[in-house]
Amino acid sequence: MHRQDFITEIPKAELHLHIEGSLEPELMFALARRNRVSIPFSSIEDVRQAYQFTKLQDFLDIYYAGADVLLTAEDFRDLAVAYFDRAAADGVTHAEIFFDPQTHTLRGVPFDVVMEGLLAGVEDARRRHGMSVLLILCFLRHLDEDSAFATFRSAEKWFGQISGVGLDSSEVGHPPSKFAKVFAAAADAGLKRVAHAGEEGPPAYVYEALDILRVDRLDHGNRSLEDPFLISRLARDAMTLTVCPLSNLKLCVVEDLRNHPIDIMLEKGLRATLNSDDPAYFGGYVAENYRALVDAGKLSNRDVATLARNSFLGSFLNDEALTHQL
Ligand code: HPA
Ligand code: ZN
Repeated sequence: MHRQDFITEIPKAELHLHIEGSLEPELMFALARRNRVSIPFSSIEDVRQAYQFTKLQDFLDIYYAGADVLLTAEDFRDLAVAYFDRAAADGVTHAEIFFDPQTHTLRGVPFDVVMEGLLAGVEDARRRHGMSVLLILCFLRHLDEDSAFATFRSAEKWFGQISGVGLDSSEVGHPPSKFAKVFAAAADAGLKRVAHAGEEGPPAYVYEALDILRVDRLDHGNRSLEDPFLISRLARDAMTLTVCPLSNLKLCVVEDLRNHPIDIMLEKGLRATLNSDDPAYFGGYVAENYRALVDAGKLSNRDVATLARNSFLGSFLNDEALTHQL
């Protein structure tokens, strides 16, 4: 089988995907028109031109502006359906997707509208692709913990449909410890916990995510490699890292994929997985992330198989569902 076919065909789980980051410029324009919302771009080419970032914050500013076109449950459903269709074509059979409710509720879009739309998309993915999907509610870390708590309370009636909570947005200056109480409440409610840590922030933030937020999974985690004790701990505990190569490249976490640390992570025995993060902004869905690292000489076919297997091992599927997927 051709290598690229192998990458597409091998069943994969996607564990690090911001649904708002899957908003392609074409859909952004269509929704702007449908909802009569103005956006700061004159054409689709103009949007793509703007996608040049030197750090996380450059991207976040554009990502939040793009999300302004999302207003109705139908918009959120269309967004989710477009992602699931694209992911299914890439061989994704299970997805655990992030959503950022505060990005919407602070613009006056009710939490329930976001949930109803996303759940309609999830149902469509199940029916048409046989894909299983879990939802992870992310708190925006540049906002305060009271705002996270207000979001947590709005989510309570949906806890049967939400698997976990996460932490995203501007990392540096907003350490995991800022959200200790709301993550403790999430743990008490039986929710899984994940957090972005060590993308731009130091290893100390990874320790806080582990020790204070008691995360089940680390999003990115790249800078853990600066600390040998941390590496040993992550390997010993089989902590899953949701690594996002094209995101790392676009946000200048690495300057070239030939310097991406994925091979070092695997050598050190870390349970790394590959994911697309915000594919509409970073230039590729999940298979493209695998392919880019293979093309950079970083992965053998055996590594591809290991990473795909890790994506299921690191998922929140229960043992019975895992047996079906593996
Ligand atoms: N990092 C932090 N916040 C985010 C990201 C990311 O990669 N994508 C969307 N929100
Ligand atoms: Zn992310």
